[in-house]
Amino acid sequence: MDPSLNPYSPGSGRRPPELVGRTGELEAFDTLVARTRNRLSDRGIVLTGLRGVGKTVLLNEMHAHADRFEWLTVRLEARRDEAGAAAVRRALARDLVAAARKLTRRSVGARMRQALETISAFNATIGATGISLGVDLANGRADSGDPEVDLLELVEDVSLALAEDGRAFGLFIDEMQDLDQITMGALIAAQHLAGQRGWPFYVIGAGLPNLPRVLTETRSYAERLFNYRPIGQLPPGEAARALVEPAERLGAGFAADGLDTILEAAGGYPYFLQEYGQAIWNLAPAKTFTADDAAAAVQFGLEHLDAAFFRSRWERATPAERRVLLAMAQDHDAPSQTSDVARRVGLKITSLGPYRANLMAKGLIYSPEHGQVAYTVPGMAAFVDRHRDDLDRA
Ligand SMILES: Nc1ncnc2c1ncn2[C@@H]1O[C@H](COP(=O)(O)OP(=O)(O)O)[C@@H](O)[C@H]1O
Ligand SMILES: [Mg+2]
Repeated sequence: MDPSLNPYSPGSGRRPPELVGRTGELEAFDTLVARTRNRLSDRGIVLTGLRGVGKTVLLNEMHAHADRFEWLTVRLEARRDEAGAAAVRRALARDLVAAARKLTRRSVGARMRQALETISAFNATIGATGISLGVDLANGRADSGDPEVDLLELVEDVSLALAEDGRAFGLFIDEMQDLDQITMGALIAAQHLAGQRGWPFYVIGAGLPNLPRVLTETRSYAERLFNYRPIGQLPPGEAARALVEPAERLGAGFAADGLDTILEAAGGYPYFLQEYGQAIWNLAPAKTFTADDAAAAVQFGLEHLDAAFFRSRWERATPAERRVLLAMAQDHDAPSQTSDVARRVGLKITSLGPYRANLMAKGLIYSPEHGQVAYTVPGMAAFVDRHRDDLDRA
């Protein structure tokens, strides 16, 4: 089939041609927006799951929905490296100013004017971006230099101004597990106070499966602040829809056995469905995709996944860190006990620590529970097994 018409969308954060299986999450957010319009408060939402399950896509959908209802929104992506904390705060301040600029296009009341001043002050203190909103700096609001104090004042002023007409202040944060402790603590405190006071301020976060634990370790009450939504594999019916609907819209379709082959290979993972969907479209000679087409697509798609999705991650690891990744494959995709991994690579647990920390910083592994590590991408153990010989040498 013509590749220039290929509807499938493998790739980080790319909107799929058919967004399936996420009705519950989308409805939860619709309800939050509707409650805000009714001047009722709610909890923030936290989406968690492995890489490739569709968290970023979902976060973007929610963000777009909030924008349609004229929320003041900022979208951030946390980073774990040393410069990350400053970068995130700068991005927050900068994007706030940009979002506030849009608001100034409509006529603003006294409260909103005060909120804009607070945003300006926050930007000058925390962001230091030098971008101006063209309003005076608020006197003594969001200008202490303490991120927690300033964020609270910002949230109060901005959300109360928006509350007047049933809108909210929404912070959409991707890779939230990588937020620095100070910013994370400040955001949780702000969400907590907003909930108590009924201010329409919501943190909508997405991150790895350990994000709920990271949040509660930062502030124990974080457990009750968010609607936690684990995102995972799609059930077979939904996975089939993700493949079939886009093809049918373009006059193509799957033979039943062809579809089964692809579904089996993808194991319900959205990223893999898009990758195999793309492959079968490009490889199929006619508009009904057969079992033969599917077999070829699985082979081709897997090679492509190995080269792009898996190998790019693998190559971020140093030779010593790769030994740790190899040792984890014995547990397949289930979490490994850190003590087992240490034993397998012949290190004391304490000596394993730095490798573990680096692999976490690189986003290759995460810690589902204390004393455990797991791969962040589904299918990593099988990748390691497919390439064990050449990975061992590399
Ligand atoms: N609900 C869905 N249905 C079908 N495909 C999806 C769905 N969600 C995401 N995808 C596809 O999966 C891939 C990964 O999505 P992404 O949001 O980047 O995942 P994550 O942020 O969890 O790593 C993309 O190619 C995207 O098009
Ligand atoms: Mg993502």
